[in-house]
Amino acid sequence: MCGIVGIISNEPAAAQAIEALKRLEYRGYDSSGVASLSSDGRIERLRAEGKLKNLAAKLNANPLFGHIAIGHTRWATHGRPTEDNAHPHATERVAVVHNGIIENFRELRAEFEKDGVKFSSETDTEAVLHLVDRALQKSGDPTKAIAEVLPRLKGAFALGFVFSGHDNLLIGARQGAPLAVGHGEGEMYLGSDALALAPFTDTVTYLEEGDWVVLSREGVTIHDRTNTIVKRAKQKSGAGAFLVDKGNHRHFMAKEIAEQPEVVGRTLAHYIDMNAGRVHLPVTLPFDWNKLTRITITACGTASYAGHVAKYWFEQIARLPVEVDVASEFRYREAPLLDSGLAIFISQSGETADTLAGLRYAKAQGQFILSVVNVPTSSIARESDVVIPTLAGPEIGVASTKAFTCQLTALACLALAAGRARGTLSEADEQALVSDLVAVPALMVEALKSEAHIEHVAHDMAKAKDVLYLGRGTSYPLALEGALKLKEISYIHAEAYAAGELKHGPIALIDEDLPVIVIAPHDPLYEKTVSNMQEVAARGGRIILISDREGLHEAGLKTLAGIELPKMNPRFAPIVYSVPVQLLAYHAAVALGKDVDQPRNLAKSVTVE
Ligand code: M6R
Repeated sequence: MCGIVGIISNEPAAAQAIEALKRLEYRGYDSSGVASLSSDGRIERLRAEGKLKNLAAKLNANPLFGHIAIGHTRWATHGRPTEDNAHPHATERVAVVHNGIIENFRELRAEFEKDGVKFSSETDTEAVLHLVDRALQKSGDPTKAIAEVLPRLKGAFALGFVFSGHDNLLIGARQGAPLAVGHGEGEMYLGSDALALAPFTDTVTYLEEGDWVVLSREGVTIHDRTNTIVKRAKQKSGAGAFLVDKGNHRHFMAKEIAEQPEVVGRTLAHYIDMNAGRVHLPVTLPFDWNKLTRITITACGTASYAGHVAKYWFEQIARLPVEVDVASEFRYREAPLLDSGLAIFISQSGETADTLAGLRYAKAQGQFILSVVNVPTSSIARESDVVIPTLAGPEIGVASTKAFTCQLTALACLALAAGRARGTLSEADEQALVSDLVAVPALMVEALKSEAHIEHVAHDMAKAKDVLYLGRGTSYPLALEGALKLKEISYIHAEAYAAGELKHGPIALIDEDLPVIVIAPHDPLYEKTVSNMQEVAARGGRIILISDREGLHEAGLKTLAGIELPKMNPRFAPIVYSVPVQLLAYHAAVALGKDVDQPRNLAKSVTVE
């Protein structure tokens, strides 16, 4: 899972490639590299371990002047994150960058090693390199070589190639991993997504599965998997409209937490007719809510917790049973799905490999496919029957924050629409709920005002080795989300339980060293959660209660650190309560000096299984 770019330019292209790669670092940052051509047509390359800034420093010290380049930012799959394993991989004839996995690389590698070819890396990519190199030795024709090699590759990949002696030729290929072509003025580009190409162009063509493309300054020729020349539409990506900077914030994550009132408001405005005070979906749904008997929701990580919250909403508001599963399980468990059912896929990136595979499974089972995605041009969006976009804007921090609250917002609107259509929600009740939903951005602004206090609580919490999160109802998936957030950016071990499950095992963990974060708005389940909290207090646990004034007051515990949020309709509390949950994790990680935006071992978009 990596980011790739290719540029045929009229200026030094390696520096431009680094500019593009900055926008792809969300896909991985274990190492990076660029390859360009020297004035006499030789392949020159620079590679560096670690973050892109290390490569940029190398390029500063040893500039590459060629007007063609490919570049790569890596999330290690095959082989450690060393310079030897960094892309581009190159022979004297060809250099390649690769995103994805070549599944048959062992067999290909064995074939070359039998012939005495030495590999210089542990990567699967190098097998592709030698295949192309061997084909080039035979024909000397890059286009022919690629056409010959692609059918031999199994797996999901996007590839970019440059060839020595060809400063006006770039070849790209896509199978199972996204690849976009960017059209400039006498310049052409390749990129894992349109955002990478935004500094240069917003006119893009998205390649389809099995496509491969030959680029020159004069234009592109796209071939499908049968090598037939095909036309693919040019579109405006709109990616250039988004500024990708931290503003006045220290980290992207801080900025993204802070901008939630705005982006949640924007998402609400998209799905709510403010004059009528009612939900108005700006799309025609290809199914009838009344004919559905079940919804299947599939997603990964934080997006799956949004799905868990939505399960409560669909079941309570629209009386529709919902099954939620993580995509990595759903895709392989051969779930029988009822004819013409609705399958919902939730994804910030729209490129998560497991979620996409789950979507394809559900499609093959005759389901209507609805996706809730933040990137409307993504693979998941493009393969869906209907797309419900979240309008969070680009999310750069690896830890998902604003995308999560926008997913919740869009799903809440969808549940209300389902309730109205199924007659389980009256018009008056819809209007009341819509008015509570519309109040959410202002409540988030209030929640953000507690940041200084939350930071203080987080500093104390950061001393712990383990943290436990508890919640009931929709606060339970939010507890799961809180534990995930803390783990991924602070590396503190955290677990979350449904509060009622505490006595079935995890209560054994409670001692005076364990902070227990209890998420409990003053809702109909509050009393039950407080009983569980008493059980923790009785055993010396250090409780941090996130609730409203009434909830904090009624808890009546002395040992308590409280985080107070405004009073609200508890139905939509998970959207607002996300704010302190995110801030706790953020400030704990900052206190520990961790790399908040790019935590170790992770990548923003997981395009491998
Ligand atoms: O792009 P997606 O929403 O499909 O990504 C799903 C997960 O990989 C993602 O939510 C991950 O868990 C985040 N790092 C959580 O903060």
